[in-house]
Amino acid sequence: MNITIKSPLDMHLHLRDEDMLKIVAPLSAETFCAGIIMPNLVPPITTIEAIKNYKQRIKDAIGDEEFEPLMTLFFKKDYTYEFLKEAKEHISAIKLYPSGATTNSDGGVSSMDIESLRETFEAMSELEIPLCVHGETNGFVMDREAEFGSIYEQFATSFPKLKIIMEHITTKNSVDLLDKHANLYATITVQHLFITLDDVAGGMLKPHLFCKPIAKRYEDREALLDVALSGHPKVMFGSDSAPHPTHKKECCGCAAGIFTAPIALAALTSLFDTNDALEHLQAFVSDNAQNIYDYRPLTKNIVLIKEPFTVRQSYADVVPMFAGETLPWSIK
Ligand code: DOR
Ligand code: ZN
Repeated sequence: MNITIKSPLDMHLHLRDEDMLKIVAPLSAETFCAGIIMPNLVPPITTIEAIKNYKQRIKDAIGDEEFEPLMTLFFKKDYTYEFLKEAKEHISAIKLYPSGATTNSDGGVSSMDIESLRETFEAMSELEIPLCVHGETNGFVMDREAEFGSIYEQFATSFPKLKIIMEHITTKNSVDLLDKHANLYATITVQHLFITLDDVAGGMLKPHLFCKPIAKRYEDREALLDVALSGHPKVMFGSDSAPHPTHKKECCGCAAGIFTAPIALAALTSLFDTNDALEHLQAFVSDNAQNIYDYRPLTKNIVLIKEPFTVRQSYADVVPMFAGETLPWSIK
């Protein structure tokens, strides 16, 4: 048995830079035809020059494979209308990080006060630049995303023309917001469809399953599965594949991030098949994103076959999710 996915898209992807970029970018390019590239480098991507240079480095790392890097800027509240107007043709979105919320987010926004963000959000609304948000407060780790819910709602109602993408949602609370506000959308990762906090810390601690937002409760995973498996038009796949070298994961002070790029499509196909939902996989991994971002990707068909795929222990110095485990579907 096999299945063909047309133009799979990864709408939230960390490709890093330098040696790491060279290791991971070809792996995404093998199975996806485009991806929204996160700007949290050191230093973050905040200028048009930096976007252009980073895009070129990504293309160099990918080589001949057809893959379009959809670039993003790291949100700064002092971006002017003129700057954004010029930036628009080089980017697909702007990513807002609360300061300190996750890896390399120190230069993010320290207050979500609407007035301090108004000018930039209005410019983005007018220029039709989508806003991607890492939605976590600095509260108790299991409550951070739910606490951010009221901020999402404030953003959505104060800027009705702004397209807001709630990145890597992990809670039922976030799922419920999708049907409440026309301008709220979401990405969902592979890991949050598979695991709960039990898998991360319920037994032996699993550093390779540690990410932000952290995996939540069973009822949260159920809510995510409901919208993903049904092909809900406001959710799309964004892996949040976030590679870190082994010494930054298997140590005291483990970095947040799960590396899923090389297993994402096989894992999703396996999950949708197990749940008798293969008919909605195309919507989740491509069609919904095309509609939400108003983006027409190049045509690239990826064929998956129902044959066991044993995941490698590592790619260079990076350990992927499901390392050493066997998934029922593989890329042909
Ligand atoms: O776990 C995470 N890792 N979450 C993020 O939001 C960022 C990412 C990274 O860049 O490592
Ligand atoms: Zn991310």
